Amino acid sequence: MARFSKSSLFSSDIAIDLGTTNTLVYVRGKGVLIAEPTVVAVNDKTRQVVAIGKEAKNMLGKSPGHIRVVRPLSRGVISDFEITEEFLTYLIKKAQSGRTRLFGPRVVIGVPTGVTNVQSRAVRDAAKNAGAREAIILEEPVAGAIGAKLPVSEAVGTMVLDIGGGTTDIAVIALKGVVAAKSSHMAGDKFNENIVDFVRSEFKLGIGERTAEEVKIGIGAVMPLTETLSRSVRGRDYATGLPREVMLTDSHIRDAIAPSLDVLMDAMKEVIESTPAELLSDILERGVTVFGGGALLRGLPQVLAKMLGVPVRVAPDPLTSVVRGAGVVTEDPAPYADFFIDEEDLLTES
Ligand SMILES: Nc1ncnc2c1ncn2[C@@H]1O[C@H](COP(=O)(O)OP(=O)(O)OP(=O)(O)O)[C@@H](O)[C@H]1O
Ligand SMILES: [Mg+2]
Repeated sequence: MARFSKSSLFSSDIAIDLGTTNTLVYVRGKGVLIAEPTVVAVNDKTRQVVAIGKEAKNMLGKSPGHIRVVRPLSRGVISDFEITEEFLTYLIKKAQSGRTRLFGPRVVIGVPTGVTNVQSRAVRDAAKNAGAREAIILEEPVAGAIGAKLPVSEAVGTMVLDIGGGTTDIAVIALKGVVAAKSSHMAGDKFNENIVDFVRSEFKLGIGERTAEEVKIGIGAVMPLTETLSRSVRGRDYATGLPREVMLTDSHIRDAIAPSLDVLMDAMKEVIESTPAELLSDILERGVTVFGGGALLRGLPQVLAKMLGVPVRVAPDPLTSVVRGAGVVTEDPAPYADFFIDEEDLLTES
């Protein structure tokens, strides 16, 4: 009789940060092994996936008519269920080094705070259809806080800010629970749109969102810098229809995203206002921890600290905080069970 070791039957458990912009995968006992843009290219004629991740992102805006380049998540939640499933299937398989095992992995996966039960179930179903034997759903700011080694289980208030591509999550956590939270769509994608709009109205020039993102990352700053940063961008002149080049500086980017930053600041104030006084004193003392790609915007911690009057620090390696925290849960789920989302506990779609 053939004998099987447990490892040949069971897949390794994994944690996935399924983000609007980037998806990262942590494999139990191994660490973060996969980081790919959340982009899939599909051949509309054959309905087949032709590229995933970086390869698909490189095809954005450059592919022939029958190749559709899709971002299956929008504003932090699944907008294209089938493609998300294909994407997850690919990732789960890759995480098992391409080998399929009898029992699929247990998958820990994050959702933005305040998702409806329909949205949360969609994530669970997508993971299960992609081969997971069990899906543990966790709020992303909680996972990020765990990844940043913050004391989420203790009787102290911890405030975090996760600025991603599609959503910004703000949460106050204490004693294994989320005490106050808010999710907003003022995040990286919106900043890119702000830059596209600014260049259109200021320079009568049309640029793409990819260019806008490159400029944001390259020279974007939310406070004045000691040395001006600048970059030239090419786009299409609205009057002539021909290509033209303009020079953008960090101060242009600042002006472009200032209104969005104000909205973000108001959202943080709202969360602070709904935080119980006892926890507020902890936050004043211990400050706010920021992660997600938006945390890398130059001057962001300084500006937030000034406006809110609390210390603000950026988590180490802010792009991986959420997946590393979900990874901690993968290694030993029991201590975090109070944080797991059960659709029955959520409100129905409003
Ligand atoms: N150095 C940088 N400066 C400013 N923005 C940055 C920088 N690096 C990345 N970003 C932005 O961060 C965003 C992606 O962050 P992240 O990977 O945390 O998002 P996500 O988890 O995929 O999205 P979400 O959590 O909303 O679903 C993008 O909008 C990207 O442009
Ligand atoms: Mg995220």
